[in-house]
Order: sequence, then structure tokens, then C-alpha cells
Amino acid sequence: MALVSASLLAADFGCLKEEIKSVEKAGCDWLHLDVMDGHFVPNLSFGVPVIKSIRPISDMPFDTHLMVQNPDEMLPWFAEAGSDIITVHLEACQDVIATLSKIRTLGKKAGLSLRPQTPISGLEPLLDKLDLILLMTVNPGFGGQSFMPDQLQKISDVRAMIGARKIYLEVDGGINPQTAKLCCDAGADVLVAGSAVFKANNYSEALAALKK
Ligand code: DX5
Ligand code: ZN
Repeated sequence: MALVSASLLAADFGCLKEEIKSVEKAGCDWLHLDVMDGHFVPNLSFGVPVIKSIRPISDMPFDTHLMVQNPDEMLPWFAEAGSDIITVHLEACQDVIATLSKIRTLGKKAGLSLRPQTPISGLEPLLDKLDLILLMTVNPGFGGQSFMPDQLQKISDVRAMIGARKIYLEVDGGINPQTAKLCCDAGADVLVAGSAVFKANNYSEALAALKK
């Protein structure tokens, strides 16, 4: 069964702690933390102080998605703040092998994300350096966008590329119970969901619907 990583971006920021406790109690697997710098994506979200302050209230693995240009310098900050998985964008790194190695040296799982337009060929030489591949199924930057069905073939292709390796295949953007099924059928095993969880009235039902 797929894991759900709830994207905090869609939560009520006026009561983050309550939101996180509710979603965890409802059976959420991971918490997805979308960090945006206003350069790599045309939006700003939150950063290290927020992650640090929510870390003590949750046991969920923190799945940090860095949508920032040149993330290298910031990696130790996000590691210290309590991230368990740190995902960077292939398009944002100058020396991606060095960046991924740095994440593992910090004792964290290393993830690599691709925008919808980025071909998967760049992943092949990096497979041994990766714990997670994050395929964007919308253009990164905003929650609440529609799923791009033309990404399904890419999900199958990456699943085939991963083969027997122990690498999570995560999808992010426009995931709801219908698109979740399509992604899982194509080979995804971690579903990021913002709106489909935090905009629902009942988080347990929302999570169950995604996992079904
Ligand atoms: C978009 C973010 C997503 C976003 C998903 O750039 O990476 O994680 O929060 O939101 P929904 O599930 O609403 O599409
Ligand atoms: Zn994300």
C-alpha cells in the first residue's frame, strides 16, 4: 500500500500544531514540507524556524522538499531542524552528485525531484546516490493545481529504471483519490497530498480514500 505524505502547505497556518497532530492521529505516514525561495519557484512558503518549531510535536518522518536554487549551503540547516528526508531539484543544483552526497553525509535520506518538463535521463547515473525520487505532477510553486496526466508515462519509466533498488518513488501535485490510483498503478509508492487532505472535513476519511 502507498504511503501518504501530507503537504503542510495546504494546512491552516494559524494553527499548525493542531493541524499536524490531527493529521498524524488520522494515520498520515509522512509530513511533506514545501520550502520555496521565490527564485526557483515564484512563491515563498516557510523555512527552518517553522520546521524546528513543529519537530517536537510529531513523530512522523519529515519529508522536506526544497524548491530553492543552489540548496547546498542550506542542507545542514534543514538537517538540524529535524528533516528525515531532504529532496532537492535536479534543475536547481550545480553539482548534483556533491549535493546528494552531502545530504547522506548529514545522516539524512537523499531525494531528487524533477519538474514535469525535465527528462528522466539525468537520473540514471545517480541511482546509487538516491533514497527517493520525487516526480512533480504539476509545475512546482503552488498547491491546489490540477494533475498533469501526461506524467503517468514518466512514472512508469522511472519505476522501470529503479528496478530492484530500494528507492521510494513519490509523486507531488494534484493528487486526489482518482489520480492517486493512476499514479500507484504506474508505480508510485509515496503520494504527496496537500488539498486532498487538509481541505477535507475528515482527515481519516481523506487518507483512507487516497490509500484505497
Ligand atoms: C507544489 C508542492 C506540493 C503542493 C501539493 O509545488 O510541491 O507539495 O503542496 O499540493 P496539492 O496536493 O494541493 O496539489
Ligand atoms: Zn512538494
